[in-house]
Amino acid sequence: MSSILSEVMEDASVRRRFEDTAWVDEYLQAGSAHGEPIYLSVGETWSQAPDGLTRLLGAEMPDHVHGYVISQYGLPALLRVLRSYIPRTAGLPGDVGASGDFDVAVACSGTRNSMYDFGRLIRDRARGRPVVIMYAPGWDYHGVFHGLGFRFTYLPLRPDEAFQPRPADLEEELRDLDVPGDAIVVVNAQHNPTGMNWDEDNVRRILGAAAGAGANILIDDAYFGVTDPGTPATSALRLLLEDRPRPSGRWLAVRSLGKQFNCNGWGVGSIAAGPDTIDELVNRYLANRSFTCAVPLQYAMAQWLESEASRTYLDWFRRLCAENRALVNDFLVRELKYPAESFQAGSCTSYLVFPIPPAYQEHADGVHRYRRDCFNETGVLLGAGTMTPESSTDQNRPDPFPYARMFLAPSSDTVITALRRMAEARFSWDRPC
Ligand SMILES: Cc1ncc(COP(=O)(O)O)c(C=O)c1O
Repeated sequence: MSSILSEVMEDASVRRRFEDTAWVDEYLQAGSAHGEPIYLSVGETWSQAPDGLTRLLGAEMPDHVHGYVISQYGLPALLRVLRSYIPRTAGLPGDVGASGDFDVAVACSGTRNSMYDFGRLIRDRARGRPVVIMYAPGWDYHGVFHGLGFRFTYLPLRPDEAFQPRPADLEEELRDLDVPGDAIVVVNAQHNPTGMNWDEDNVRRILGAAAGAGANILIDDAYFGVTDPGTPATSALRLLLEDRPRPSGRWLAVRSLGKQFNCNGWGVGSIAAGPDTIDELVNRYLANRSFTCAVPLQYAMAQWLESEASRTYLDWFRRLCAENRALVNDFLVRELKYPAESFQAGSCTSYLVFPIPPAYQEHADGVHRYRRDCFNETGVLLGAGTMTPESSTDQNRPDPFPYARMFLAPSSDTVITALRRMAEARFSWDRPC
């Protein structure tokens, strides 16, 4: 992995802002004291894109994919496939267009950018300062929306409630808003980082509350395809359209394909929304910054999604994440002496979160210290348990979310090696800080 890491991470010749890259670089320069670095922080292995998918990028590409395509909805071949793939996998009864309630387009520069465009659209129509309401811990919606001037309200996900969202918290929050139409409510039902598949009843109530209040809705289905075998993904898109085909606020459902096919660098995914919203997003907000790009990738993805191999790959990947989840769960309790009730292993996404040892929890920067110590002493780099910035704002308080996040998608051998190193260096529950 060390050779890959030096290929994909910025070196000291640039102004680095991301501490992981500096830490890995220093570790490599110092001779990798504990063996090859094992990078389990950001969810990426750089080595698991399916062969069947990457082979499609070979010689048989038609010439037209190398030019501009004059289609803001994406390469027509991929658009056609997504217009049935998205409703079918979401459990919707008909194809796009059957009801006229929603449409689908290609996201060709990451769904993160599609969310940003949605943020611009909502901000441009806002009467006051727009707000993002999200459950926390959570993914980096702050990074997407704060530059657009949004403020943030974080609703707690509680470990003693299995990190399930409480719809009542949202209902109360929405009642207090002067202009609910200035709000975006985020629903990430296959939840990064906790790995919890949100209960259907909770999601239904959350969507109902947001739509009923006239708030805007962002459904982030990045991990919709990545649930453990036997865990059907809660389909927020289906729940929304079943109950309110035309909610009064705007809505957008994004689905990255990078996670389920380990090709994050492609930036290919889908967006679904009411036809007017899609029109504005692609013909105005996307066009304002980019034409359709990554066209060869879109061409390959169209063929891949229709192949039996893509289904086989996804089955394999879901099994791998589930096996590694079980393995880490067992190891934390058996070898690292974690009380069984101190964490929840989850059942979806390629992540598992677990608390840092109690001695670290006493420090406002406990998660930072734990990650750093663990990396220095084992070469295993874990992620922080949340990407929301509310943690560690007050240096005198303990970290409000004292958890680390482990990426579960590398091979089981790699995960076992990482865990063994952690056990040998005594990163157990009773570890002093
Ligand atoms: C929960 C979640 N949503 C969205 C994204 C963005 O995915 P994309 O690569 O499509 O921009 C990610 C990955 O970074 C994610 O983990």
